[in-house]
Amino acid sequence: MDQSVIKEYSSGDLTVTWEATKCIHSGICLRGLPEVFDLKARPWVNVEASDSKSIVDTVRDCPSKALAIKGVRFKDTHTNQTDVTLINGGPLIIKGGATIHHRKKTEEIAGTLSFCRCGRSEGFPYCDGSHAKPKEK
Ligand code: SF4
Ligand code: FES
Repeated sequence: MDQSVIKEYSSGDLTVTWEATKCIHSGICLRGLPEVFDLKARPWVNVEASDSKSIVDTVRDCPSKALAIKGVRFKDTHTNQTDVTLINGGPLIIKGGATIHHRKKTEEIAGTLSFCRCGRSEGFPYCDGSHAKPKEK
């Protein structure tokens, strides 16, 4: 059985959903729209605090798709423009799609990729959020 819990934050016409088990703790939402995404607030997502476009744009930038807009499916795109973001203490995020050459296979990935830089991911080479967990002693 799928143990994941999807939380919903609604302003009536816009509902943001968040699936904690998918979050890789990139902090992109927190930096992108701090008035809406604030870990110190309860609930941590306040969809009343900004306009719908800003919220949708920020949710679209979530690299793990932990954040989503209910009823909206963002199209993954493969663009000629590649944006690379290094998250401090976290993954390397590539937006715009890429061709990944593994040792024995090649993957075409549209949309956003998050590569592990800490070496602790169980889904290596991709980040699974393990960098944000306390290290075992
Ligand atoms: S993975 Fe998504 S929900 Fe998690 S911190 Fe990053 S942007 Fe926010
Ligand atoms: S950088 Fe996220 S698990 Fe390694």
